[in-house]
Amino acid sequence: MEQKLPGDLLGKLFGEAVPGLQLFCLERWQSLHETEARVQLSESGVHPLTLAELEVYGVDLEELRRLELGYGWTKGSPRLRERIAQLYRETVEPEGVIVANGSAEANLVAAASIVSPGDTVVVDMPNYMQLPGLLKWLGAKVVHLWRRPPTWSFPLSEAVEILRKSRPKALFVTDPNNPTGAYMSRMEMEELAVEAEKTGTTLVFDEVYWGSELGDPRPSILEIAGPERAVSVSGLSKVYGLPGLRIGWAAGSKEMAERMWSVKDYTTIAPSRLSDHIASIILEPGNVERLRERARSIVRRNLEALRTLLGDRSDILEPHWPRAGAYVLARVPWSRDTLALSYALYTGHGILVNPGECFELPGYLRIGVGQKPGDFNNSIEELLAALEKLRSG
Ligand SMILES: Cc1ncc(COP(=O)(O)O)c(C=O)c1O
Repeated sequence: MEQKLPGDLLGKLFGEAVPGLQLFCLERWQSLHETEARVQLSESGVHPLTLAELEVYGVDLEELRRLELGYGWTKGSPRLRERIAQLYRETVEPEGVIVANGSAEANLVAAASIVSPGDTVVVDMPNYMQLPGLLKWLGAKVVHLWRRPPTWSFPLSEAVEILRKSRPKALFVTDPNNPTGAYMSRMEMEELAVEAEKTGTTLVFDEVYWGSELGDPRPSILEIAGPERAVSVSGLSKVYGLPGLRIGWAAGSKEMAERMWSVKDYTTIAPSRLSDHIASIILEPGNVERLRERARSIVRRNLEALRTLLGDRSDILEPHWPRAGAYVLARVPWSRDTLALSYALYTGHGILVNPGECFELPGYLRIGVGQKPGDFNNSIEELLAALEKLRSG
C-alpha cells in the first residue's frame, strides 16, 4: 500500500507546541478529524449519555433550571469530594481530593505539583502520552518503561530494578493502560507499593479506565499504597460515559491536595458548577456500579461482534484482546506505516481510527469499541472492507 501524506500533516502531529513541549499527537489527530468523520472508531470511552438519560440516575432536570451558575467550589463541592473519597473505600479523605476539568487537568496539576526540573521520573509506555510530554516539559529526566507484546502487562521486575537503581521521584503509570487495555493485578500493585516505599517514590496512577475491567476487578493504587505514597487520577469521561461534563479528579494526601489546589488556581480556577452538581449525583454508590456495568456490557458486546466479523482474517488485523478500556490495539501485519493507513481510511472512506504512531507504535491501530452496539457492527464492517481494499492497493 502506497499512501501519500499531505506535506504539513507530520508537522501538525509531531512538531513542538512551544519550545520543549512536543505536540500531543493523539489529541491533535482527534481534534483535526473527529467532528468530520463519518465512521467514528477513535473514541476511547463508551457512548456518552444524554442529559435526559441522567434522570434515571437521579438527576432532576427541573432542579438544574434553578441552579445558580456561580463559580462554586474551586476544588470541587464537599458533596462531590465526599463521593469521590468513597470510591476509594475511604482510603482518602475528602480533603485529599481535588476536582478538575477532566482527568487531563488532574494529570497536569498532579505532575506540576510533584515534579521539579532535574528530577528523575519513570513513565509507563505505551501511554496516552499526555504525561510523557508534560514531564519532559517540566524539565524532568524521563525514563520510559515499556510494556511489551504479546501481553502488554506492566513490566514489574524491570520497574523494581529501575526504582532500586535510580530512586526516581515518581513513577507515572496509566493503568488500566491506554492503548493496550492491560491492567495490573492486586499482587503486582502490592509488590510495587512495597518497593516504592523503600525508595521514596511517589506512585502516580492515571486510573481513568478504572472500573472497566472485564476480568477480576482491580483496586485503586490508593487502596494498596495509601495516600502518603500514591496519587490517583480519574474522572467521568470514559467508563461513566460523561466526557462532556469535564469532571476529573486527583486524590492523595491532604498535603498533596493542598499543593495541587494551589497549582489549579493558575489553570481553570474551578470545575463547572453545573457539572459538579451532576457529578455528585452520578457518583452516588448505586449509580457507580450501574454505570460501570453499562460500560463493560457495551464493550463485551462490541468485542464479541469484532471477533465474529473479523473471523479468521488475522492477515488483515491482529487485535490484542483488551482486559479493560473501550478500545483495541490491533497490529496491521501488512503495513508499518499506520499513519498513512489511518489517513487513507479517513480521507478515502470517512473512517477515523488512531494511528499507532501517536503511541510510538508504528504498525498498530487503536480502534474504539465503546460505540452503541448496533452502530458498531456497521462501523467495523466498513473498516474491514476498507482495510481489504487498501491492502490490495
Ligand atoms: C489515560 C487517559 N488519561 C486522561 C485522559 C483525558 O480524559 P478526560 O480529561 O476527558 O478525563 C484520557 C483521554 O483519552 C486518557 O486516555
